[in-house]
Amino acid sequence: MRVAVVGATGAVGTRMLQLLREREFPAHEIVPFATERSAGRQLGELTVRALTPEADIEGFDIALFSAGASTSRKWAPRFVDHGATVIDNSSAFRRDPDVPLVVAEVNPHALRGHHGLIANPNCSTMQMIVALAPIHRAAGIERLVVATYQSVSGTGQKAIEELETQAHASLHGIEIPAPEVYPEQIAFNVIGAAGSFEDGDDHTDEERKMIFETRKILEDESIGVAVTCVRVPVRISHSEAVNVQTREPLSVEQARELLSRAPGVVLEDVPTPLRAVGRDEVFVGRLRRDESHPRALSMWIVSDNLRKGAATNAVQIAELLAGSRRAAEVA
Ligand SMILES: NC(=O)c1ccc[n+]([C@@H]2O[C@H](COP(=O)([O-])OP(=O)(O)OC[C@H]3O[C@@H](n4cnc5c(N)ncnc54)[C@H](OP(=O)(O)O)[C@@H]3O)[C@@H](O)[C@H]2O)c1
Repeated sequence: MRVAVVGATGAVGTRMLQLLREREFPAHEIVPFATERSAGRQLGELTVRALTPEADIEGFDIALFSAGASTSRKWAPRFVDHGATVIDNSSAFRRDPDVPLVVAEVNPHALRGHHGLIANPNCSTMQMIVALAPIHRAAGIERLVVATYQSVSGTGQKAIEELETQAHASLHGIEIPAPEVYPEQIAFNVIGAAGSFEDGDDHTDEERKMIFETRKILEDESIGVAVTCVRVPVRISHSEAVNVQTREPLSVEQARELLSRAPGVVLEDVPTPLRAVGRDEVFVGRLRRDESHPRALSMWIVSDNLRKGAATNAVQIAELLAGSRRAAEVA
């Protein structure tokens, strides 16, 4: 297979290249694309090509896109027209009813009959759904109340640099430069609205993604989702406090049993973002009864947003399409 990675120099793209190698994806050629700024840059043995109108995009079987929604809108259909199946990490096509939105362990069946474009869910939704799908199948989810604690890498490479620069300045008594990525300083702070507010909406786009994508992936428009997305000064891994109200009664023991058998889930007492870095699993802890409701449980879900929240799932989808050995393990 010939694989293109668009956005290969970014926070997610670099993980995609790493995962294709680690998981021995059956590719005979991998071509990294980024902007003209990065053209010629070496990523290991691979040389970055500029994605310009002159770029040769012929002959790819799979294209993994992670370069923002506007790049996807412009370039993904062109790759499809040239014969590739595109797995897109951006929000560009997730709401399109003709584009499957796939979590590898949860709804691989949605890949059937795709039209060349497949969307990878938003990172916060992804990790939550890996943990909640077994509960939904067993007892039906009526309502979710969620607060996210999202790391800065979810915003990309520039945001990691902003956190590090601000933290360094603050610890060394240097004047802290004005924030560029976030509306306020993120070092030693918490921003209670992750994402942006669009068209006078009182929910951020991140919150809207979690509401919409949860229902699309679980194929149930009736699920209630109340969510607050929060940005915290953590480099990598998102955490989420999740309250799940089920339709049928489900005990803590039953939920524990379901989660212990769920693919991609690891049960721990109190997972932390630091321990999740570099791992592909979703870590679930603090599983307990919500004493305020007869059919509600609370839990704490943590995962590496750059891996399972983005790159790992994209590569797992590629494996499902390629029918590789790893795909058989997921299924
Ligand atoms: N970070 C996460 O946790 C996460 C999770 C899920 C989905 N996503 C999505 O994945 C995408 C990338 O996120 P990221 O965090 O990796 O961002 P990032 O670190 O800012 O990287 C962006 C990448 O896109 C490239 N790029 C930008 N404009 C381009 C263009 N016009 N043509 C070709 N390449 C272009 C950049 O190349 P240069 O280096 O040359 O500028 C870079 O390789 C976004 O759509 C994001 O929403 C991110």
